[in-house]
Amino acid sequence: MGLELTGIVVIGTQFGDEGKGKITDFLSEKADIVARFQGGNNAGHTVKVAEHTVKLHHLPSGVMHNKTVMIGAGVIIDPKVLEEELKTIESIGKKPGLFIDPRCHIIMPWHNALDIAGEESNNGSIGTTKRGIGPCYADKCLRKGIRFEDLVYERRLEEAIERIFPEKKKILEKVYGKKIDFSAESVFKEYSRLGKKFAPFLKDVSFHVCAQLEKGKEILFEGAQGTFLDNDFGTYPYVTSSHPLSGGVATGIGIPINKISRVVGIVKAYTTRVGNGPFPTELQGKQADDLREKGEEFGTTTGRARRVGWLDIPMLRTAHRLNGFTELAITKLDVLSGMKELKVAVEYDIGGKIVKNFPYSTSTVEKAKPVYKTVKGFTLSGKEKKFSELPKEAKDYLKLIEESLGVPVKFVSVGPERNETIIC
Ligand code: IMP
Repeated sequence: MGLELTGIVVIGTQFGDEGKGKITDFLSEKADIVARFQGGNNAGHTVKVAEHTVKLHHLPSGVMHNKTVMIGAGVIIDPKVLEEELKTIESIGKKPGLFIDPRCHIIMPWHNALDIAGEESNNGSIGTTKRGIGPCYADKCLRKGIRFEDLVYERRLEEAIERIFPEKKKILEKVYGKKIDFSAESVFKEYSRLGKKFAPFLKDVSFHVCAQLEKGKEILFEGAQGTFLDNDFGTYPYVTSSHPLSGGVATGIGIPINKISRVVGIVKAYTTRVGNGPFPTELQGKQADDLREKGEEFGTTTGRARRVGWLDIPMLRTAHRLNGFTELAITKLDVLSGMKELKVAVEYDIGGKIVKNFPYSTSTVEKAKPVYKTVKGFTLSGKEKKFSELPKEAKDYLKLIEESLGVPVKFVSVGPERNETIIC
């Protein structure tokens, strides 16, 4: 018998912002390494530890435990943002070991400019975070990207900028009518400085993760965004440009799929979405405003108000099909405390046809009318530390999720603090 596999993945089951940061932080206490496998600084998570509240965009949440954190090849990086984040972390006394895969693509200033210009010319049709994510991943696929390994060698960086910059300038100026506030020279100067700064952190993350897994070390893979923002399986085109599914770990880190032993699905007790795109259980008016305020549903990255709605079981069922959850973590249960009754979408009615799963086509999702089950609300005291201490109605709510998916709920978050997490 070989060593028990110890790759654990944390996945958002909805549209992102499920509270992955908190659960990752909680699970990372035991992990040896925390690694990210996709996305960029479009992600944002707030981690509260003791007196510190830190907003992270690039660094995995494990930094708060001084763990070795790794950024896999599937992640795209804005080195200016990473530099700031490291400063913040160091200012509160954390010194994480950091590995950056040299294959990671760099978000260059033209990517941000193109993201903003593209959104403006389309009236913000996707509602992106404007962090240059789409344009950077597009360049990676077009084979016009700059990888972290290129920053380290001045000649290579200079050559790449000379090759790429004129075309980007032309597109920004001639297609979008934009004036740009950077030149090839200024970009070279700044990015070669950043290359020198980060050179010591460049390591083959695929190699190191595999080696550590072989030794039986526990590695936590932290997903960003959520299942329905996946570029293929989300509500295209209202999606991000990477693959936040459990399968993304294999390609984003560079490990075989059979190295993953646990897939933890993070389910917010209700649903939220930032940006545009269909949202079957969305609430409007005062009910939405109250839930948004109570849940502090404002984006970590952009500050935008999140759209809010009831829990949606067809989404979760489909997320389970796509990710293969071995367990679930329910977050923000406390936000629903005090409501007389709650609604949960258990099926959709699409033109008179009842369906149990999230349709593949965005235009069909737009027509989906939730079939609600109304359940009794619950009030939490704020002192619950064990599952047995939860009110019966709260337990029933959790049971409904468990039974609908056939996946056990292992963690329940009842507040933002690390110790406000119930292990079931
Ligand atoms: P992009 O990833 O910036 O291109 O944005 C594409 C879509 O994904 C937009 O609707 C964003 O609001 C959404 N999005 C991107 N990152 C996150 C996230 O971390 N949480 C929630 N939504 C996100």
